[in-house]
Amino acid sequence: MKKVLLGTVSAIAIFMIASCGGGTSDNKGAAVTPPPSAAAPAAGTEAGAAVYKRTCIACHQTDGGGVAGTFPPLAKSDFIADREQTITQVIKGKSGEVTVNGTKYNNVMPPQALSEDDIAAVLTYVYSNFGNTGAAVTVAEVKAVREKIK
Ligand code: HEC
Repeated sequence: MKKVLLGTVSAIAIFMIASCGGGTSDNKGAAVTPPPSAAAPAAGTEAGAAVYKRTCIACHQTDGGGVAGTFPPLAKSDFIADREQTITQVIKGKSGEVTVNGTKYNNVMPPQALSEDDIAAVLTYVYSNFGNTGAAVTVAEVKAVREKIK
């Protein structure tokens, strides 16, 4: 991941040097076209992508694949089929044994101090990425679960 980022950054740097240093009259003032952005998030999930990057990525990884034996995957996770359980997981965190896609994990996820808006956004992002196909999570759904488990 770091390597890929570094590669991208140096590619952009080289690109900028190359396009600024040319100095031929016919490309003077030509706008530097930014490289196409890699893998744009699914529509409506930009806010969720931002929360994911800020909050979940350290453990669940960029591709939602988790870390074998330590952090379970969100990608194609059978756990998230239960939406209430998934919202509860984010609000309360969890420790102890959990089985995801047939593999046991026994670790600690701390409660995530996020607003209801952020939880809805990040879970919508999770449900519409990583090979998952769940409907968007609404703020009302998050509120209802929060009320129920408090
Ligand atoms: C500090 C590391 C850490 C962070 C940050 C974290 N998690 Fe987790 N997550 C875990 C661990 C560890 C488990 C398994 C807990 C267990 O063993 O009981 C887990 C389990 C889960 C599960 C249920 C199992 C599965 O893989 O489907 C979901 C859903 C989940 N996390 C979502 C999230 C979301 C969404 C965020 C960000 C808002 C997040 N987690 C942030 C460590 C983390």
